[in-house]
Amino acid sequence: MLSHQASDPKRKSLHGHWSSRMAFILAVTGSAVGLGNIWKFPYIAGQNGGGAFVLVYLICVVVIGMPVMMSEILIGRRGRRNPVATMALLGQEEGGSTRWRWVGGMGVVAGILILSYYSVIAGWTLAYVVKSATGVFAGASAAAVSEQFNGFTGDWRLVALCHTLFMSLSVFVVARGVERGLEQAVRFMVPALLILMLVLLGYSINSGYFDEGVAFMFTPDFDRLTWGSVLAALGQAFFTLSIGMGAIMAYGAYLPEETSITGASAAVVTADTSIAILAGLAIFPLVFANDLNPADGPGLVFDTLPLAFGQMAGGTFFSTIFFILLSFAAWTSAIGLMEPAVAWIVERFNKTRAQATIATGFLIWFVGMGSVLSFNVLSDVRFLAGTIFDNVDYLTSNIMLPLGGLLIVIFAGWVMCRNSTADELHGSGGLFKTWRILARFVAPIGILIVLINAVR
Ligand code: PHE
Repeated sequence: MLSHQASDPKRKSLHGHWSSRMAFILAVTGSAVGLGNIWKFPYIAGQNGGGAFVLVYLICVVVIGMPVMMSEILIGRRGRRNPVATMALLGQEEGGSTRWRWVGGMGVVAGILILSYYSVIAGWTLAYVVKSATGVFAGASAAAVSEQFNGFTGDWRLVALCHTLFMSLSVFVVARGVERGLEQAVRFMVPALLILMLVLLGYSINSGYFDEGVAFMFTPDFDRLTWGSVLAALGQAFFTLSIGMGAIMAYGAYLPEETSITGASAAVVTADTSIAILAGLAIFPLVFANDLNPADGPGLVFDTLPLAFGQMAGGTFFSTIFFILLSFAAWTSAIGLMEPAVAWIVERFNKTRAQATIATGFLIWFVGMGSVLSFNVLSDVRFLAGTIFDNVDYLTSNIMLPLGGLLIVIFAGWVMCRNSTADELHGSGGLFKTWRILARFVAPIGILIVLINAVR
């Protein structure tokens, strides 16, 4: 929970500070673990052919994601303001230009765009809580489960209703102040989610198709790897870790001085990656056991997991709990997505937190209607990357997040002076040197190579 005495002698955040190191780790983990791990990772991996994609994703997480996350936290803690103001302030202090604020600005926009469709998918999750609890999936066949999905997403009014409900829930908690209550939620949600993933894993191990699933995920076939899928892997690494758009920077602003940024980042990255891999291991065997298509797209999780639950003893119960937990996971991520915009409006326009949240929430809700309609009324409206939903997703995950991450890491590695970063990362030993090499060379060059090759 945020307490209002700052432990930072130099600068204070207007919004208070985390009460403990654990509070910060829980909040960042809550933001990282979400639909990205359980809904998005399996379907993107499926669409990009599995093995090679997963390998590239893991490399991106370690050599790019980790240093970017550390950079974001250290920048946030040093500036102690919303991402726009922090980038302007540090830009001035360290590099003589307040133009760096545009990096924060792009993050504010990215958060709004991502949440606009994230909330729609989270709305599906809410609907699946009800479907599970009422026993719709008990003993259902693959065809019946997919019928449910198509019937539901095809009805724009229902999807809009669920999107509205989820946005209202998000506005409600963000308006009250981020941490009250949610910290508690994350404390039980992440372990519970892990346990349920293990239950599912147990089921998929016994499905008779576990080896096929594992082979699909871990046998890299580099012939199928295009620059497009490398970019998708990079984008997924950013998306799942909540980096590149200022969410983690905003959280870093409330972090006490003495907390180890390296340790906290390592904990979050490990938890997040484990949950994604577990989700893949649970889902792909089911895909092959039921003759489904791994490249099915955004419906993959909604077509496979209810099927598994439906055949399990106690399935109605487990399925309900699972979708409740997934809704919680989405909820704690939505908070991170709104925080840069809300903190910026509060500080810049002197609004109350409630006013800022309601205004942001309304805008996001409105933009999200485009994604609501992408699965039904406007499903034939296609341009560039596909439907409206596909385009918002592509633009944010594959362009804005990597670009934001690139600029953040360049700022931390090249613009900030060595002493400032050493100060925040507590030291100049081997770990610091490794971070600096990754932040100055490996991450920026890696991101640039992928962006240039994939986009041209
Ligand atoms: N990391 C979240 C997920 O995987 C999504 C997210 C992105 C949250 C950016 C906050 C900021 O679901």
